[in-house]
Amino acid sequence: MMKKNIAVIEGDGIGPEVTRQSIRVLNAIAEHFGHEFTYTYCLMGATAIDKTGNPLPDETIEVCLQSDAILFGAIGDPKYDNDPSAKVRPEQGLLKLRKTLQLYANIRPVSTYSSLLHLSPLKSKHIEGVDFIIFRELTGGIYFGKKELSEDGRSALDECTYSREEIERIAHLAFHFAQKPARRKKLTLVDKANVLETSRLWRTVVRELATQYPDVTVDYMFVDNAAMQIIQNPKQFDVILTENMFGDIISDEASVISGSLGLLPSASVGTGGLALFEPIHGSYPQAAGKDIANPIGSILSAAMMLQFLSMEEEARMVQEAVQWTLQNAFVTKDIDPVNFYFTSTIGELISDYVSGKIGGSIKKENIELRKSTII
Ligand code: IPM
Ligand code: MG
Repeated sequence: MMKKNIAVIEGDGIGPEVTRQSIRVLNAIAEHFGHEFTYTYCLMGATAIDKTGNPLPDETIEVCLQSDAILFGAIGDPKYDNDPSAKVRPEQGLLKLRKTLQLYANIRPVSTYSSLLHLSPLKSKHIEGVDFIIFRELTGGIYFGKKELSEDGRSALDECTYSREEIERIAHLAFHFAQKPARRKKLTLVDKANVLETSRLWRTVVRELATQYPDVTVDYMFVDNAAMQIIQNPKQFDVILTENMFGDIISDEASVISGSLGLLPSASVGTGGLALFEPIHGSYPQAAGKDIANPIGSILSAAMMLQFLSMEEEARMVQEAVQWTLQNAFVTKDIDPVNFYFTSTIGELISDYVSGKIGGSIKKENIELRKSTII
């Protein structure tokens, strides 16, 4: 029996509706295993700006600091995207939270599901069995450098800085991960060392650290080449280590391999022993409130959270339930635009699976009516 306090930040757009499904699944897990999860909801992003004027109210930071883990939905609103002169932006909330909690490593696993192989625009033979994980640096680089717009508005600046320490701490994490029994002991550093000074520092530091991990083979790849290789030959990758902005870009790209951006989870870990779990997708405002978004990225993020909280068996059960829905073609509109199920139906199916309510046969007609799936 475990008691855990979870801070929940639903955020913007589809954030609330996908997070709701994760909570449903977590509640099913709690009931099945006799755990007690307490959720404290807090504000961040456009929703927080609307209500308080601040994308990250102090209260949210307080709640997070007092929690065992944070579950986060998505951030962003078109009214800010289309207004380059906006002084306050929703994304500032997330960036400040990552920085305040020192969540310096964002971990994004990429794998394929046999039942979805045909949906990827990539040929099945190239992607079957792909299994790699991106370690993206999350609190440094160009995201957090000095930003300036000249007075006459004719030039702008974004500075990119990295310190040795910032590179070392995430590199150690990635090397340790590459050593795990389940991994293939290969680490690829993705950078732009032919042009950028920061990238050359990344290479120097990673090369030095590599001597401490003799069982891990290290590969160095320029980011433009990596962008191509991820599509052309993704099976070559095991652990990818990269800086903040390159990681942001290549992880969206890599989601094409799985079949949808909506499927990928992530964990952001750091120095304080606290971690934040969020799907890699954005707030997808066009779908907000329509019950059509894919909740699996969020549900698998909740599974990563269970793992982080030392609930291995619980995490595996959620992953198995997700596999089961995908194998049985219970998928959302992003995956099958014709025969799709609603966000809430997928959440219900996954939590019913966890509760053991899905045994023998399932009446598809009932699911189509979004009724209980049990006969
Ligand atoms: C992500 C997102 C964020 C990022 C945005 C919303 C600030 O794209 O988590 O990948 O760029 O880090
Ligand atoms: Mg991104």
